[in-house]
Amino acid sequence: MTHIRSRFRKPADKLAAQYTTSLPFDRRLYKQDIAGSIAHVKMLAKQGIISAEEARQITTGLAAIRKEIEQGKFDFKVEAEDIHMAIEARLIELIGEAGRKLHTARSRNDQVALDMRLFMKEAIADTIKVLRNFQEALLDVAEANIKVIMPGYTHLQVAQPVLFAHHLFAYFEMLERDIARFNDCLKRADVMLLGSGALAGVTYNIDREFLAKELGFSKISKNSIDAVADRDFVAEYIAAAAICMMHISRLAEEIVLWSTAEFDFIELDDAYATGSSIMPQKKNPDVAELARGKTGRVYGHLLAILATMKSLPLAYNRDMQEDKEALFDTVDTMFATLEIYTGMIRTLRVKPENMLKAAGRGYILATDLADYLVKKGEPFRSAHEIVAKLVSYAVAKGKGFAQLDIKEYKKYSPLFEADVRKITLESSIAAWNVPGGTAPAQVRQALAKARRQVASR
Ligand code: ARG
Repeated sequence: MTHIRSRFRKPADKLAAQYTTSLPFDRRLYKQDIAGSIAHVKMLAKQGIISAEEARQITTGLAAIRKEIEQGKFDFKVEAEDIHMAIEARLIELIGEAGRKLHTARSRNDQVALDMRLFMKEAIADTIKVLRNFQEALLDVAEANIKVIMPGYTHLQVAQPVLFAHHLFAYFEMLERDIARFNDCLKRADVMLLGSGALAGVTYNIDREFLAKELGFSKISKNSIDAVADRDFVAEYIAAAAICMMHISRLAEEIVLWSTAEFDFIELDDAYATGSSIMPQKKNPDVAELARGKTGRVYGHLLAILATMKSLPLAYNRDMQEDKEALFDTVDTMFATLEIYTGMIRTLRVKPENMLKAAGRGYILATDLADYLVKKGEPFRSAHEIVAKLVSYAVAKGKGFAQLDIKEYKKYSPLFEADVRKITLESSIAAWNVPGGTAPAQVRQALAKARRQVASR
């Protein structure tokens, strides 16, 4: 064991050691830690701070340790405190004296932040990949159902008819913003901070630009205190993930609603549904429900990282070790959710007849009737009033617009003519013909554009 406890007269209390160790979760950073150390010793040798032979021994030792970990042969001891100390201790065990030089010109404070940044960069790239897969699934389902009409809602009350494809494409757009947020977060994660040391920098003639290049960072940090104290990139990633999960959760809510007997717009594939232990008829949307539930968990992580950081004096404080479980669980939760959603959406059975039937209810063409009057010269606010009264009359009579005769229409406005009958769900959909609107021509264009965008990346 490497001794960072030499100033003490006794070993750590067993519970204290268990309480403070991060090894059970930060072992996940072993790859990043070893990559960071290999770049570091390469730089130390290049600068003449250690010899080429020492660098060679350390690099070989670290590669062997990586193998041990990957083959499950590494002995993770709690006394090690964290993955950084565990690897260093094993290195010294393996190669002896040269191993004691690895930590020259470095502190665990800059080391751990480096590892987190390396992890973050990889996680962002992977996140964007799964988001894109999910977007493609949405696009496929939208294209396959391009003619399907459904009721659009506001306040969950029937509002205006829309294309189902248009509705799905709304989620494509949300994910597009999510991707942009993760890409933006990458800019702040992509900073190399080795050389910041514990907080003041280091006293050796190191080459930070070389380290940045070696580790694939585009820039180096400019203030050593900020560099070791900063976990903004963790908070930013979790914030972006929280927003992304919020989108997923809204879709979850719709999937839950749509698969009820009352809506009956979709049927989940059996592979993505669950049964009840008592009610034999049940086909439950547990995947969607859990996605909605896990959204709360990611929100919790966001609050946790913000609360952890909010009162910390500069620079590093051990509280910051709490960043790891929050981040790792956020990554894992969001990944699992996005992956399963991609499959669930692709296998969804859409029920166009039921959506169409639902769209025929609730006086969904009321706005079209008002617009009809406006086009015949009535000011919109007056047209709104006329149609509202007509709706009230129809509700009292228990009739839909289609069951009213022209005489009944004319009681509310002389501008109503026989051609009011030409207003149908289809004519309505076609009329919302603005860029970004639900008219079939617009939706086709939007999907085609998205398809080209997806193909080009
Ligand atoms: N396990 C620690 C963490 O995750 C590593 C840094 C420890 N630094 C220190 N000065 N104790 O934050």
